[in-house]
Amino acid sequence: MARGRLNTKRSISIVPCFVFVEMVIMAGTVVLAYHFEYMDTFPTHIQGFFCYDSTYAKPYPGPEDTSRAPPVLVYSLVAAIPTVVILTGELTFFLWQSNWREEKTIVSGDCCYFNPLLRRIIRFLGVYSFGLFTTTIFANAGQVVTGSQTPHFLSVCRPNYTALGCQSPQQYVAEKQACTAGNPALVSAARKAFPSKDTALSAYAAVYTVMYITLVFKVKGSRLAKPSVCLLLLCPAFLVGVVRVAEFRNHWSDVLAGFLTGGAIATFLVVCILKNFHSHWALSGPLAPMGQLVSVPVVALPCIQSPLEKLSVVQNHRAAFADVT
Ligand SMILES: *[C@@H]1O[C@H](CO)[C@@H](O)[C@H](O)[C@H]1NC(C)=O
Repeated sequence: MARGRLNTKRSISIVPCFVFVEMVIMAGTVVLAYHFEYMDTFPTHIQGFFCYDSTYAKPYPGPEDTSRAPPVLVYSLVAAIPTVVILTGELTFFLWQSNWREEKTIVSGDCCYFNPLLRRIIRFLGVYSFGLFTTTIFANAGQVVTGSQTPHFLSVCRPNYTALGCQSPQQYVAEKQACTAGNPALVSAARKAFPSKDTALSAYAAVYTVMYITLVFKVKGSRLAKPSVCLLLLCPAFLVGVVRVAEFRNHWSDVLAGFLTGGAIATFLVVCILKNFHSHWALSGPLAPMGQLVSVPVVALPCIQSPLEKLSVVQNHRAAFADVT
């Protein structure tokens, strides 16, 4: 009897532990992203340049807000589109799956009632936002470590070629204080180009949403409906990259690296962490024993005589808890 009670208690106490660990990881990710974004905690690597290098001497296109793909627009779309798509998708499924009506709640622990719909939404959007911060960190880390310059770098740096002794275009300037006439804020922004952050975030959002639509929706009757929606979602992400190259804000290699970073993080999260969005839609499957188990008072547990059966119930219980978090 004591052992039965112990088993259940231990499994129940695991839930807040998992939730706590995940909160800590999430908070750490957000704090790190914040430091990269708004603080100068990590100094940017200072790269030199060749005199009169035409690759970096494109005209300055103005502040980011005047871009045809301004950050405000990009970030709102990155936040809004996947949220709307996932909410719509989950609600649609919830309304369509009639067998759900009977088992709307899963009991997890002795305190928390989880609606499976809510659980799926929280998990998919939680992993999505985690990936969003991870992508920001990756992009910022790449920018700070490489110190790669934008195509308009020399236009904002405005080096004094006479003072630097530039005679031929082959001459390399390694001096750290070369940008004497330039606005320091613009110069430091122009040293952060590889990979392009806006492109990485757009690619991440697009790939995540496209994988959600491809893997979760089962459209019968139309072969082209799903690919059209997916390509429609990938198109804005592609355009963000193109606009950044066209406005001399990034080289095409920065944009390509951004696409790869965002796409890889989205693919990894969806395939390895969310297991292609398959999270026990059919509750009559492996999760069913858990509902029974927990709703029964703890005292009733020792009634299960066979140790094998007991073991399997406890394992199911644990697996289910691992799923919840
Ligand atoms: C560039 O440097 C030279 C030599 O130090 C100086 O004479 C000249 O005034 C500087 N030009 C500008 C625009 O600061």
